[in-house]
Amino acid sequence: VREYALDRDCTTLSRHVLQQLQSFSPDAQDLSALLTRIALAGKLIARHLSRAGLMEGVLGFTGTENVQGEAVKKMDVYANEVFISVFKQSGLVCRLASEEMEKPYYIPENCPIGRYTLLYDPIDGSSNVDININVGSIFAIRQQEGIDADGSGSDLLQDGHQQLAAGYILYGPSTMLVYSIGKGVHAFTLDPSLGEFILSNENITVPDHGAIYSVNEGNFWQWEESYRDYIRYVHRHEGYTARYGGAMVGDFHRILFQGGVFLYPGTLKKPEGKLRLLYESAPMAFLIEQAGGRASTGTQEILEVIPDHLHARSPLIIGSREDVALVESFIQERA
Ligand code: AHG
Ligand code: MN
Ligand code: MN
Ligand code: MN
Repeated sequence: VREYALDRDCTTLSRHVLQQLQSFSPDAQDLSALLTRIALAGKLIARHLSRAGLMEGVLGFTGTENVQGEAVKKMDVYANEVFISVFKQSGLVCRLASEEMEKPYYIPENCPIGRYTLLYDPIDGSSNVDININVGSIFAIRQQEGIDADGSGSDLLQDGHQQLAAGYILYGPSTMLVYSIGKGVHAFTLDPSLGEFILSNENITVPDHGAIYSVNEGNFWQWEESYRDYIRYVHRHEGYTARYGGAMVGDFHRILFQGGVFLYPGTLKKPEGKLRLLYESAPMAFLIEQAGGRASTGTQEILEVIPDHLHARSPLIIGSREDVALVESFIQERA
């Protein structure tokens, strides 16, 4: 077995970001530093997860609810705080906004110079944490524009094209970091012995079609009829297979490499679905478009959607071009 057969140069994440920008401009330096800090958060969270079952007070619920009305896990809080502490020392980020915080978190000492906002989902797939299966973190970086007079983050209510960078960390058998700064999608694998993310897959492209459909079919009778039409179609045709892991990061990662479609439609109880635009759907949409796929609400491109508040949700259909179009065709039929 030859180590690093794919990449004998051992390209690290920070070097890769600089190479992508082909310059040592201040923006390139900033983005490289931002990704390096995100990678540090990922390493800290991966280390914590890897030993969680051996430590007291790490797994389980906190007993509180977040602004989404979801029961918060101790791991959600831990990971949320890891990102804050990593960016406190960076000087780069003036404000962080996450699933677990009602309002953006300001780092006043960074604010005159920190020109960026980090949006993130600290733990995606919280229900997987206590049973030791894969979870993730999702992130997006936006330029900070204007002033946020009431501290509610209203200047963040812009479409997904405003993202400068987006990506996720997958805590699976390996820890992987997948990112884009608008120049393709690239995956890095954490080598725990080095403590470095090393380039493993460059310029990833999603197949135009894949066999996988990934959706919580337990919600079947909660959806609009058009989604049931689509599911009946895949049930009646050969060549489809279901995969659903309870963490979008993992389900998305499979589809990014193998093709197919992930869906989280609206339900009777939640007409906008479950997934939040600014730190779940929009970053994933940015990645999939960079990989040659698509992300849609069913009637609109995800990257075109302007959220009406920080934690706004939207239905999501994301993955291979042909599979997203097939789902949309059932929606159009009943429109
Ligand atoms: P989070 O853990 O960040 O709240 O997000 C969970 C999301 C997503 O990761 C996953 O695909 C989906 O919720 C699972 O929801 P259901 O259990 O409703 O299928
Ligand atoms: Mn949650
Ligand atoms: Mn999530
Ligand atoms: Mn989460």
